[in-house]
Amino acid sequence: MAKRKSQNRSAARNGNVTLREGDVTTLGDEVTRGLGDIRLMHPPGTTPITPASMISIEAIAGHGHLIEGIGIDWGSGGGCLSIMAARTPGVTRVVGLEIDETNVSVARRNARLNGVEEKVKFIRSGSYSPFEDGDRRSLESLRGRTDFMIANPISSDDDDGFGYRRTVLSGARDFLRDGGRVFLSISYQYGRRRIAGLERDVPGFFHEGILARSACVPFDLGRTDLLNCLKVYAREESRGGFEYEFCNPLRQAQAMNARDSLAFYERTGRSPLSQWQTHLFTYHPDRL
Ligand SMILES: C[S@@+](CC[C@H](N)C(=O)[O-])C[C@H]1O[C@@H](n2cnc3c(N)ncnc32)[C@H](O)[C@@H]1O
Repeated sequence: MAKRKSQNRSAARNGNVTLREGDVTTLGDEVTRGLGDIRLMHPPGTTPITPASMISIEAIAGHGHLIEGIGIDWGSGGGCLSIMAARTPGVTRVVGLEIDETNVSVARRNARLNGVEEKVKFIRSGSYSPFEDGDRRSLESLRGRTDFMIANPISSDDDDGFGYRRTVLSGARDFLRDGGRVFLSISYQYGRRRIAGLERDVPGFFHEGILARSACVPFDLGRTDLLNCLKVYAREESRGGFEYEFCNPLRQAQAMNARDSLAFYERTGRSPLSQWQTHLFTYHPDRL
């Protein structure tokens, strides 16, 4: 189990990071599956560790044999996935790309806290475009040499919510070697047709299946970010896009699209069900 711990009952200073109760999560050995305990600071103002993060962590813990060599973590947040990857035997280097400066600085501290600072480099970067010249050169050096990628991207809000998944894969083509692998977080509600469509939208990638999944759990609409996602999905369905797939919490066998899920929530206050999932893609540019 992941344990949230307070360093102190009240706020405590740790270097330049102020920690409050619940701001440190320890992933025990039973979560990291032999990679040792990992302690992660996530002070207010930084990206929290969410259920989707935990499923990506489980995917790395359970499928470490699929990653080795050099990796890129797109949207590295506080660094949990980069650090998990860096602890994996056979992984020599991980570069975390993250747009938010506070996240980058906490991720660097987390890397030091977990003894992987020699293997992991966190770069402030808008997608694959680092802000600093030196970091641009560092990332350039990984072109065509990257063995794996990990990404738990945010939902986009100006399209069907899936835009960042396409961005991650299309940019990854510049960096991955032939046969490179991508661990990509895509939860169930995006629907099978949209997930299968990634192979068509981003040629060169092949969908190999699901590495880790949660149980069917509420897509917690008490979280403003998830409620906003559902509104984006409902708008996309109204525009004629592929339907999303949720389950009715009162009758699990009953599927609901995004518009029905939103109406159901407004009527009952109940969140529809979905599953957090991490999928595996492989990159074979010549197998088109
Ligand atoms: C869902 S969080 C995942 C964080 C972490 N990898 C995890 O699994 O907990 C997505 C992260 O992507 C970052 N992000 C959003 N847009 C980005 C962009 N254009 N380029 C790089 N990072 C971005 C966010 O700041 C956030 O930290």
